[in-house]
Amino acid sequence: MNILVATEKPFAPVAVEGICNAVEEAGYKVLLLEKYTDRKQLLEAVADADALIVRSDKIGADVFAAAPRLKVVVRAGAGYDNIDLDAATAAGVCVENTPGQNSNAVAELVFGMAVMAVRNMYNGTSGSELRGKRLGIHAFGQVGRNVARIAKGFEMNVSALDPYCPDEVMLGAEVTPIKDIKELYSENNIVSLHIPATDETRRSVGYDLVTLMPKNGVLVNTARKEVIDEAGLDRALADRPDLKYVADIAPDNAAELLEKYPGRVFFTPKKMGAQTAEANINAGIAAARQCVAFLRDGIDRFRVNKK
Ligand code: 3PG
Repeated sequence: MNILVATEKPFAPVAVEGICNAVEEAGYKVLLLEKYTDRKQLLEAVADADALIVRSDKIGADVFAAAPRLKVVVRAGAGYDNIDLDAATAAGVCVENTPGQNSNAVAELVFGMAVMAVRNMYNGTSGSELRGKRLGIHAFGQVGRNVARIAKGFEMNVSALDPYCPDEVMLGAEVTPIKDIKELYSENNIVSLHIPATDETRRSVGYDLVTLMPKNGVLVNTARKEVIDEAGLDRALADRPDLKYVADIAPDNAAELLEKYPGRVFFTPKKMGAQTAEANINAGIAAARQCVAFLRDGIDRFRVNKK
């Protein structure tokens, strides 16, 4: 059986080594397609794959049509909005993710970006500190929980909004549950986004919420660009010259925003949140083990699509 690792944005070499070991120990073979630049390369490579490990690579009906042997796709990471779940189900393919495996890496980057924003992008002027400030976490999943843990070290006051998370989980982490989304934005100096991109959340954060933020508010987005209403954000930044937006996923209007609001917006050139050796090792090896468990024993504990 062949397990194909197809990553436009490759894992650290040490993670690839770990993946190979986990797959080969089980008696299966690794096929590697890293840094591919043309979709044709992906479509050719999947022809021989029984299992597929990907990151944010787009996996749609064209891939399933080109992969007659494919039984399982594991997204080495949390968000699976890059995979067409209905097409997978129609093709009889199981889709899984590896929740939690890269969340510390993303959470650490939140603070890298937040510090940069409150220190005025390191431009030499006097900024402010995180200590004593209020942090609002928009969605309290694995990343949000790691953000809360680290925020305590900065001595921040932390609150979170997540209709899918019981209050006890937040209270257990010394985080104040917030029920009203407007309050999340109006009461916090820094808001960190951790909502997945779904039909419910796409373009859900825009002018009305962002302009509720207190003076010198910072919005940090290490989630997905799709959750932002980009035109609304643009208007909010224009109307409120005190606000900043820092994101790990450049919006489509990035060039325009950078030109209009110098020193107030920052975007990484490529999604960097999970781009650490540790996160790559954790997520990559978990993905390899999940592929093996599915192919060998039919175990689908982390399945996210319908059968
Ligand atoms: C995730 O959903 O796990 C993160 O956004 C990381 O994505 P990446 O594997 O493309 O870096």
